[in-house]
Amino acid sequence: MRTKTTLFFWFSAFVIALVSTIISLHHIPSSLSSTSTIAKSAQNSFKLAILDGVFKKSGESLLSTLRSIVSRHHHHHHHRRRRSPKCANTKWKFRLVSEYNVSLVLTVGLKGCTNFSSVQKAVDAAPELSNYRTLIIIDSGTYREKVTVAANKTNLIFQGQGYLNTIIAWNDTANSTGGTARSSSVAIFAPYFTAYNISFQNTAPPPGPGRIGAQAVALRIAGDQAAFYGCGFYGAQDTLNDDRGRHYFSECFIQGSIDFIFGKAKSLYEGRLRYEQIKHHDNEIWCL
Ligand SMILES: *[C@@H]1O[C@H](CO)[C@@H](O)[C@H](O)[C@H]1NC(C)=O
Ligand SMILES: *[C@@H]1O[C@H](CO)[C@@H](O)[C@H](O)[C@H]1NC(C)=O
Ligand SMILES: *[C@@H]1O[C@H](CO)[C@@H](O)[C@H](O)[C@H]1NC(C)=O
Ligand SMILES: *[C@@H]1O[C@H](CO)[C@@H](O)[C@H](O)[C@H]1NC(C)=O
Ligand SMILES: *[C@@H]1O[C@H](CO)[C@@H](O)[C@H](O)[C@H]1NC(C)=O
Ligand SMILES: *[C@@H]1O[C@H](CO)[C@@H](O)[C@H](O)[C@H]1NC(C)=O
Repeated sequence: MRTKTTLFFWFSAFVIALVSTIISLHHIPSSLSSTSTIAKSAQNSFKLAILDGVFKKSGESLLSTLRSIVSRHHHHHHHRRRRSPKCANTKWKFRLVSEYNVSLVLTVGLKGCTNFSSVQKAVDAAPELSNYRTLIIIDSGTYREKVTVAANKTNLIFQGQGYLNTIIAWNDTANSTGGTARSSSVAIFAPYFTAYNISFQNTAPPPGPGRIGAQAVALRIAGDQAAFYGCGFYGAQDTLNDDRGRHYFSECFIQGSIDFIFGKAKSLYEGRLRYEQIKHHDNEIWCL
């Protein structure tokens, strides 16, 4: 109670003092002699200057506070920008652009700084029935999606960051899709498809003994004149559906069990082709 009263007293005193100061500053009495008026007004202007200074100071401190907030905000922005210098295009290999006279480059990645976060979205964005190449550069990562390159998406190039680093994986089976061919993780129906340094994988579990409908295709290639360089094909039964057309496979790795390469295409496999057969209890192994 006592402290409250004291506080109130001092507060009222301060208010009264402030008000009277202001009144005295603005109300210059005309009855006084000229000299004293001059002296008074000088004194007043001094007081005014002090008041001005106080207001300026508080204004300035407010300004500087604002400025520091803004600059902190600015700094934060700056920092954020500095932390992701990889948005610069320098990380991509553009060698294929001149090699294939590429007219459009699209980038795909899971960590941002790319045009798309899914391979299918990049394929959808590529021009249809194009006579010029579209290069789709796919960053390292496992892209869990089923990808279809429709017949009119001609002249696409997929460029991964190494077949151990860039992987497109899905897990359909003959059972889940109503047919072996439809189980493919990636299906290509367009002509002139080319892939470099990327893997195609079907992660469905390998067929157990006597299981029907568990075959699962990693890649189905049904477009004419396709080429695969340094690619990986991972699956168990029916890994690579070399369906129709003329295809070229160079320096590729193919993993599978039964019929792991099958289809009616006319294909050339060369250059340190490696393959790995997964054995299961009652599986017969078909060699190349
Ligand atoms: C390369 O592609 C451009 C279109 O992107 C085309 O105008 C040009 O004729 C092509 N050059 C060659 C040598 O094919
Ligand atoms: C892809 O990203 C690059 C770099 O950010 C940009 O210059 C280009 O316009 C983008 N292309 C498309 C089709 O979004
Ligand atoms: C390209 O093929 C897709 C899927 O078959 C179809 O929806 C689209 O209309 C076709 N575009 C052209 C230009 O024919
Ligand atoms: C594929 O895997 C998902 C889990 O990642 C599972 O829910 C789904 O049933 C699987 N599909 C098939 C056909 O096995
Ligand atoms: C593919 O990978 C090989 C081996 O790492 C490398 O020499 C080649 O430059 C790569 N090609 C492309 C187009 O990235
Ligand atoms: C596939 O479907 C058939 C018939 O519905 C069923 O007998 C078989 O067990 C299924 N196979 C697998 C691997 O689920």
